[in-house]
Amino acid sequence: MFNLFHRKKNKVRLPYHTDVHSHILPGVDHGSQDVQQSLEMLRAELEMGIDRVICTSHVTAETFENTSKSLTEAGKVLQKAIEEVELPIEIQVSAEYRIDEYWSKLYAAGDILPMPGGYLLLENSFQQELLELDELLFDVQLKGYRPILAHPERYSYYSRRRGRLEQLHNAGVKFQINILSLTGYFGAGARDTVLWLIKHGMVDFLGSDMHNVEHAHIIQDYLRTRDWRKQFAQIGENRLLNDNVR
Ligand SMILES: [Fe+2]
Repeated sequence: MFNLFHRKKNKVRLPYHTDVHSHILPGVDHGSQDVQQSLEMLRAELEMGIDRVICTSHVTAETFENTSKSLTEAGKVLQKAIEEVELPIEIQVSAEYRIDEYWSKLYAAGDILPMPGGYLLLENSFQQELLELDELLFDVQLKGYRPILAHPERYSYYSRRRGRLEQLHNAGVKFQINILSLTGYFGAGARDTVLWLIKHGMVDFLGSDMHNVEHAHIIQDYLRTRDWRKQFAQIGENRLLNDNVR
C-alpha cells in the first residue's frame, strides 16, 4: 500500500521539455474530446517535466479534414482555458499530416501549419507506403520544411524492410518514435523496430502521441522502469531534437 502511494507521488520526468506529438487540442480528432480532458492531459505533461506542447491533431482525408483555421480556433479555446486555470505550460498549434490526397490539396494551397523551426510531422498510410513518397519528401525539404516521420516503428511494412527506413533517414527525414511503442502498447513488432532504430542511432525525437490521459499514465509508469533507463541511455540525451523545435 505504502509503495503504491509512494509511486504515485514520485513522478519521473522526461529529459526534455517539449512534446512534439500530441492529440491534446479539444474536439478536432479522436484525441481530447473537450477542454477538461485537454487540461487533464496537460497536467499529466507537466508531471513528466513537459512545459511546451506541440499540438499535432490528425489531419486526414475523410476522417479528420481539419484546416489551419479549425486547428487554430481549437488552439485559442485551449489557450484561454490554460490562462483561466493558470497552468504553467505553453502550447503551439501544428498538426500530424497523413500523406494522402487531402494533404496534397492543403500543401498545394499553402494551408499548412508547420511547427516552429519549419518542422512538419508527417504520417504514412498504415497500409502501404505511398508511391511518390521520395519525391514528396524531397519537395517538402526543397521548400525549406524539415519533415519528421511520425512513429516509423508503427508501419508494419517497414519491419520487413528496415533498409528502407535507413534510406529515408539518410535522405534527411527525421524520425519521431512513440514512447508508447517502447512500452509494448503497439505490439511486439513496433517495439522490435524501435529497438532497432535505437541501436542504429535513428531516433531524433521522442513523442507521447497521447490521445487521452490513460496514455500519459502508461508513459509515466514506463518512465519508472529499468527498461526506460536502459533505452534512454542508448538513445542518448544529446541527440534528441525535441527542444530544438522553436
Ligand atoms: Fe498521432
